[in-house]
Amino acid sequence: MKFFADTADVKEIRELASAGLIDGVTTNPTLIMRSGRGFIESIAEICKIVDGPVSAEVTALAADEMIEQGRRLLQIAKNVAVKVPLTLDGLKACRALSQGGAMVNVTLCFSPAQALLAAKAGARFISPFVGRLDDVSQVGMDLIRSIRTIYDNYSAITTEILVASVRHPLHVVEAAEIGADVCTCPPDILRKLLQHPLTDIGLEAFLADWKKSGQKIV
Ligand code: E4P
Repeated sequence: MKFFADTADVKEIRELASAGLIDGVTTNPTLIMRSGRGFIESIAEICKIVDGPVSAEVTALAADEMIEQGRRLLQIAKNVAVKVPLTLDGLKACRALSQGGAMVNVTLCFSPAQALLAAKAGARFISPFVGRLDDVSQVGMDLIRSIRTIYDNYSAITTEILVASVRHPLHVVEAAEIGADVCTCPPDILRKLLQHPLTDIGLEAFLADWKKSGQKIV
């Protein structure tokens, strides 16, 4: 499974990329607002740090305007993926941009039927939001399982399942068990994946014993 960083924070992206932890980045208007920086300049900088897809979201509602915004975003760098919402206009824009060779990420997916339509429109990525479903007492991971089953039934579907709205490490582990293609994680979740108290205790004990041995690595 590929890992994307779900953030527009360039400092965080730089650090995670230096550890080889991320294969791409997803942003949305909220994440751009939180970064406090200009949209185009942020995406341009992120695209230089990360080789993989960097999702940049359109903000228009009509298909022709989404296509126009998408084309502008595609000029920023070769690895931009245009993010469009899961609406009829969004799917029209997805089809047009995909046919032109662009990577399109269809976002705000909350049902298997929506995911099927996005695949039909040529989406490179479908973004089902697991955390927001959990928030309204529906099991978000059930949606990932269902989309995996549906997509696996049809060899012609090449759309990648990009698990979004990830809230905790268990979402990530379950996404991998189900066979999702990508999981996009906020940086704090990526860090939490690393942590285990037995790792810390073990390291402390090894270092204490090394000190007692009086040796040095030279
Ligand atoms: C990613 O592409 C989504 O925009 C993001 O994961 C949404 O997460 P949230 O539900 O925590 O805002």
